[in-house]
Amino acid sequence: MVWFGCCIVLLVVVGGGGTVVVNGANVTYDGRSLIINGQRQILFSGSIHYPRSTPDMWPSLIAKAKQGGLDVIQTYVFWNLHEPQPGQYDFNGRNDIVSFIKQVHEQGLYVSLRIGPFIEAEWNYGGLPFWLHDVRGIIFRTNNQPFKRHMQNFTTKIVDMMKAEKLFASQGGPIILSQIENEYTSIEGAFHEDGQRYVKWATQMAVGQNTSEPWIMCKQDDAPDPVINTCNGMRCEETWKGPNSPNKPSLWTENWTSFLQAYGENALVRKPQDLAFHTTLFIIKMKGSFVNYYMYHGGTNFGRTSASYIVTAYYDLAPLDEYGIIRQPKYGHLRDMHAAIKLCSQALLYGQLTIEPLDQNQDAYVYNTSSGECAVFLVNNGSREGVVVFWNTTYNLPSKSISILPGCKTVAFNTAMVSTQVSTRSMQPILRFNSTQQWEEFREVVPEFEQTSLTSNGLLEQMNTTKDTSDYLWYTIRMQENSSGAEYMLRANTRGHVLHAYVNGVLVGSAHGNRKVSNFTFESTISLSTGSNNISFLSIMVGLPDSGAYMESKRAGLYEVLIQDVNITSYSWGYQVGLLGEKLSVYDKGSSNISWSQYSSPHTLTWYKTVFDSPKGEEPIALNLGSMGKGEAWINGQSIGRYWVSFKTSTGFPSQTWYNVPRSFLKPTGNLLVLFEEEYGNLLNISLDTVSINKVCGHVSDSHPPPLNSLEPRLHLWCPHERNISKIIFASHGNPLGNCESYSIGNCHSANSQNMVEKACLGRRECLISHTTENFGGDPCPGTLKTLLVDAKCE
Ligand SMILES: *[C@@H]1O[C@H](CO)[C@@H](O)[C@H](O)[C@H]1NC(C)=O
Ligand SMILES: *[C@@H]1O[C@H](CO)[C@@H](O)[C@H](O)[C@H]1NC(C)=O
Ligand SMILES: *[C@@H]1O[C@H](CO)[C@@H](O)[C@H](O)[C@H]1NC(C)=O
Ligand SMILES: *[C@@H]1O[C@H](CO)[C@@H](O)[C@H](O)[C@H]1NC(C)=O
Ligand SMILES: *[C@@H]1O[C@H](CO)[C@@H](O)[C@H](O)[C@H]1NC(C)=O
Ligand SMILES: *[C@@H]1O[C@H](CO)[C@@H](O)[C@H](O)[C@H]1NC(C)=O
Ligand SMILES: *[C@@H]1O[C@H](CO)[C@@H](O)[C@H](O)[C@H]1NC(C)=O
Ligand SMILES: *[C@@H]1O[C@H](CO)[C@@H](O)[C@H](O)[C@H]1NC(C)=O
Ligand SMILES: *[C@@H]1O[C@H](CO)[C@@H](O)[C@H](O)[C@H]1NC(C)=O
Ligand SMILES: *[C@@H]1O[C@H](CO)[C@@H](O)[C@H](O)[C@H]1NC(C)=O
Ligand SMILES: *[C@@H]1O[C@H](CO)[C@@H](O)[C@H](O)[C@H]1NC(C)=O
Ligand SMILES: *[C@@H]1O[C@H](CO)[C@@H](O)[C@H](O)[C@H]1NC(C)=O
Repeated sequence: MVWFGCCIVLLVVVGGGGTVVVNGANVTYDGRSLIINGQRQILFSGSIHYPRSTPDMWPSLIAKAKQGGLDVIQTYVFWNLHEPQPGQYDFNGRNDIVSFIKQVHEQGLYVSLRIGPFIEAEWNYGGLPFWLHDVRGIIFRTNNQPFKRHMQNFTTKIVDMMKAEKLFASQGGPIILSQIENEYTSIEGAFHEDGQRYVKWATQMAVGQNTSEPWIMCKQDDAPDPVINTCNGMRCEETWKGPNSPNKPSLWTENWTSFLQAYGENALVRKPQDLAFHTTLFIIKMKGSFVNYYMYHGGTNFGRTSASYIVTAYYDLAPLDEYGIIRQPKYGHLRDMHAAIKLCSQALLYGQLTIEPLDQNQDAYVYNTSSGECAVFLVNNGSREGVVVFWNTTYNLPSKSISILPGCKTVAFNTAMVSTQVSTRSMQPILRFNSTQQWEEFREVVPEFEQTSLTSNGLLEQMNTTKDTSDYLWYTIRMQENSSGAEYMLRANTRGHVLHAYVNGVLVGSAHGNRKVSNFTFESTISLSTGSNNISFLSIMVGLPDSGAYMESKRAGLYEVLIQDVNITSYSWGYQVGLLGEKLSVYDKGSSNISWSQYSSPHTLTWYKTVFDSPKGEEPIALNLGSMGKGEAWINGQSIGRYWVSFKTSTGFPSQTWYNVPRSFLKPTGNLLVLFEEEYGNLLNISLDTVSINKVCGHVSDSHPPPLNSLEPRLHLWCPHERNISKIIFASHGNPLGNCESYSIGNCHSANSQNMVEKACLGRRECLISHTTENFGGDPCPGTLKTLLVDAKCE
């Protein structure tokens, strides 16, 4: 018979979350873990980046992270937000890092502060302020005086600020770890010996800040003492060599919960089972003692903050979605895993490891201490389910799974058996903008050569010309044509991201690249009229680069233009930085100073505006821009980010259709919505939608370990705030086929399944259904393992 140990669980669930430090904690480390006030610790951490959400969301994001069993919140520090001009600092609103850290502290969690100050993070210019580009003689991230001077200046600024606010653990604050640099190994070789010199310098500079807490360098195998090298990746237990000294602990600073997404790419779906398997294996096999989920909440790349081609929603598939809504079952499955592993802490941190082979690909990892603390992890690393006997008990081990037995007796958790409900997010239109009367428009003018203020012989590099004040740069040229009706092949090579070409003000074609290529070619047949012709190119960047060696000398924009066989690259070109509408701030204060026209029909390069009242309620809201092309959107003058729905993925869908509209950007009435659309988007299909969980589905079986605080397996369904279970779509106790995505009744089914579940759940916000045969009025098929699958609507 296959079963899961005995049925009595005499374990106390230790809640997640560190203790609030009052008088200052002493943070050190040894070869096993970080040591806080003399105690070794297994810490679960999650990345939440403060500028990727709004301050009103912070308390609930942190609270949900704590309930999810996290001990630590990890964040980068975003230099280019904080120092937009040299010596001019901004720590307000979404940039209020001190307030964010204090809120984490108030809720009793620790902070891991990744200062960088180079951070990559799929963030514009990897977090470096663009003005650094113009510092004389600078070379980023190497043994270069100007760079080191500015890096030290900003690092010191942040450390001093944290010290002044008493935010380091030794001062009674929450910060237990700080990071210098970021994944430097990947470019170190490009700088030869100067790379190594820079690593040594960065170490000394960081340690010289005298913070009392340890410093880390992620993906930096040669991190000098006392800085701890840490792992980033999907499978650190397979891919990583480990700490570079026996005196340093194994820390995983980025366990990717999904992956970054660029326009034209599908989101990477990382299953919670896979995440749980590798996290647990890291802890037991690599003596891992710190795992950070990257991201725990991804959030939104507001404005123009995302790096090249990166979509506006950031890691929407993380345990907390873009809107801060709990994503199930990822969130709950990790929470249950954290609780089970925490119960094994003493055995893991102070015990000895014995590995007992059970079968091919199957091992028991036994941790025990001389004082009797014990924990067993039954690992099935094979691709087939296995039945093993361990210490006279038979266990069923699903493929690629680990059963966790705190106390070495009872299975508390299996990484492949998800007991948490699956929740389905839905977007419901609450406001439509479907009347032409609602919209007004303002068309951009295609500049002609003579109207441009800057001219140059040859094609200018785009970033150095715009200084990143805009995504847009116009290149214009005047051509004389002697024959009539002549047709030519116009060819342009660009390192920009998107190119629109105009002849005498008329669009003749567009082209774009993607994140995998550094340049692309535009080609179109054009006809020139006799006499003078104006050719204008609008070169667009969708974010600056965020990685690589010599980032300061990366190039963007047009670099070669040919008309038929005539090379006009070094002719005289006129330039306009940015759009007219940007200069007039038509999305904001300038909106009232220009004359808008009544909307007529879709047109390229057009600004559109409308006004709307705030929808009632508190549910998150989003703009459905699925009918649009490419552009940017503003609410009451604040940019909610770029959109690019016309760039479809391989499956034919936009990478992102819905764009987060934070409630805090809205006032009750008269909200100004402005869009800048580059293509022929259809405004009349835009809607403002509420975002909520409208369906939940649970699936438990006799073979699932019972939840930690219960004696029997049971199904827990719950709807979000302000919604109740309104309908049971499906209920079967027996052996239903399939899973929450697709199911049907099997050959064993309790006739009263539907009634039973309706009685327990209908009209309630949450319900717990005991999964025993008695509860379902007897056993419909003795000897068969029972499963309960319930799918329900929330309204
Ligand atoms: C911090 O703890 C370490 C050992 O964990 C100890 O050696 C050191 O003296 C302590 N420092 C302070 C300031 O208490
Ligand atoms: C950083 O540089 C600014 C001016 O460039 C200077 O005022 C400031 O004192 C410097 N800060 C530190 C911590 O060195
Ligand atoms: C750090 O401590 C050392 C030694 O006490 C001292 O020389 C140095 O000035 C301190 N640095 C800072 C930034 O406080
Ligand atoms: C992160 O952890 C998940 C499981 O929690 C695992 O599947 C994934 O491979 C890990 N990835 C990284 C990069 O750590
Ligand atoms: C742990 O258990 C094994 C056998 O299961 C035993 O041989 C070993 O002595 C124990 N270790 C400690 C430290 O008690
Ligand atoms: C698990 O199997 C994979 C290959 O499927 C292998 O690369 C990995 O090293 C194995 N891990 C363990 C802990 O045996
Ligand atoms: C397993 O059973 C055998 C025979 O009954 C017994 O001698 C042994 O102590 C048992 N082992 C454990 C770990 O319970
Ligand atoms: C616009 O949407 C509303 C619902 O919000 C609907 O009642 C109306 O018929 C729609 N109008 C058009 C022209 O489609
Ligand atoms: C950037 O532009 C300035 C003129 O504005 C020029 O002097 C400089 O050489 C350019 N730098 C690069 C790297 O192209
Ligand atoms: C047109 O004629 C002018 C003047 O004769 C000459 O400079 C120019 O190159 C001619 N253009 C073309 C496209 O042949
Ligand atoms: C991009 O640039 C490289 C190097 O200049 C060139 O070989 C390649 O053909 C270009 N690719 C396209 C699509 O233009
Ligand atoms: C066009 O001119 C530019 C600048 O002089 C040069 O770099 C490029 O190689 C030329 N292209 C062709 C096809 O001749």
